[in-house]
Amino acid sequence: MSEPEPPPPPHPDAVPARSGRRVLVTGVNGQDGSYLAETLLARGDEVYGLVRRSSSDSLGRLAHLRGHGEDRDAQGPRLRLVYGDLADDSSLRRALALARPDELYNLAAQSHVAVSFEMPEYSTEVNACGVVRLLQVVRDLKLPCRFYQASSSEQFGAVTESPQDEDTPFRPRSPYAIAKVFAHQIVQNYREAYGLFAVGGILFNHESPRRGENFVTRKITRGAAAIARGRTEPLRLGNLDAERDWGFAGDYAEAMTAMLAADEPRDYVIATGKTHSVRRFCEAAFAAAGMPLSWRGDGLEEVGLDEAGTVRVAVDERYFRPTEVHTLCGDASAAERDLGWT
Ligand code: NAP
Ligand code: GDD
Repeated sequence: MSEPEPPPPPHPDAVPARSGRRVLVTGVNGQDGSYLAETLLARGDEVYGLVRRSSSDSLGRLAHLRGHGEDRDAQGPRLRLVYGDLADDSSLRRALALARPDELYNLAAQSHVAVSFEMPEYSTEVNACGVVRLLQVVRDLKLPCRFYQASSSEQFGAVTESPQDEDTPFRPRSPYAIAKVFAHQIVQNYREAYGLFAVGGILFNHESPRRGENFVTRKITRGAAAIARGRTEPLRLGNLDAERDWGFAGDYAEAMTAMLAADEPRDYVIATGKTHSVRRFCEAAFAAAGMPLSWRGDGLEEVGLDEAGTVRVAVDERYFRPTEVHTLCGDASAAERDLGWT
């Protein structure tokens, strides 16, 4: 075999770095991507964001960072959007050649667990194969770039020990989680095999006003708000018993940058260490909207009633998952010890 080619010269379109690092973020227009972009821009980085082409605007979460209205092709001075898709190798190659990043955060994913049962092949293509594609381009272009992978507490799945930490075994329960386990382990393999500074942040659920509206927290808060404003139709949910360790997305973006700034590449659990049920989340949201709830019935017949006895929450089996992750609670003490993150 011949010697590999030397790294190519910078792409002709590349913007010369002004200050700080050059950083590429995939999934930049998602919940986490928008908080991460804020953090990176605040520390003076040149940020490239990978976005997919869509027929309607999908850049709302970045509006305050771009200053170019709805024009997707307009570029900000330090936030540049590049078209690409984790399913399309050539677009990743082009984006990395253009950005030549010092740091690469891979946040892009088909991120909805329930949807992954409906689209298992696509979820695997993006969430698992997409990560190998990115890692391979980093190697091929010989980029001395630190790599962050958005790993997930869903990887723990059917847990038999609580809380979960970096040594807890993975027992994934969905196509989403199985693809994320593959991605996590291929990142570990590239770290060990090729000495890449590559890490997986095993983040427990994190939420915000920017959270997608079909995840349970936004679905509940929007439902409670609509009912408080006069909607009569109850909020229909799936498994009220599910328990999650919910944190704030802005704090979790800080943990991502801390992991890439560490002396050694290591995977970390990022969590609050507190867990609550979906039912408890409903109680808090409806109470905040001035409608304390009480519960009656069991299983599919369970309902949440307001003080006047009107049904405000009902169970709907359409939102049950074929296999469910019943409870998650994280132990982030390693991140606190090594990164100073809480
Ligand atoms: P999100 O709001 O759903 O954002 C996902 C992002 O990925 C969007 O920008 C989306 O772009 C992009 N994307 C989807 N498919 C893509 C593809 N084929 N090619 C390129 N981009 C694609 O999710 P999030 O809550 O910010 O989560 C960020 C990452 O962390 C995800 O990988 C998720 O699985 C992981 N994670 C999230 C949590 C959490 O609680 N939020 C916890 C652990 C891990 P479009 O707008 O075009 O769809
Ligand atoms: N989405 C949704 N809609 N979930 C419901 C509903 C409903 O109507 N009713 C009950 N749930 C339950 C789900 O079954 C699950 O147990 C829990 O609420 C949380 O669901 P989601 O908010 O959809 O989040 P998730 O935990 O499945 O996945 C999120 O967190 C993962 C980290 O653990 C996503 O952000 C994943 O991308 C992330 O990896």
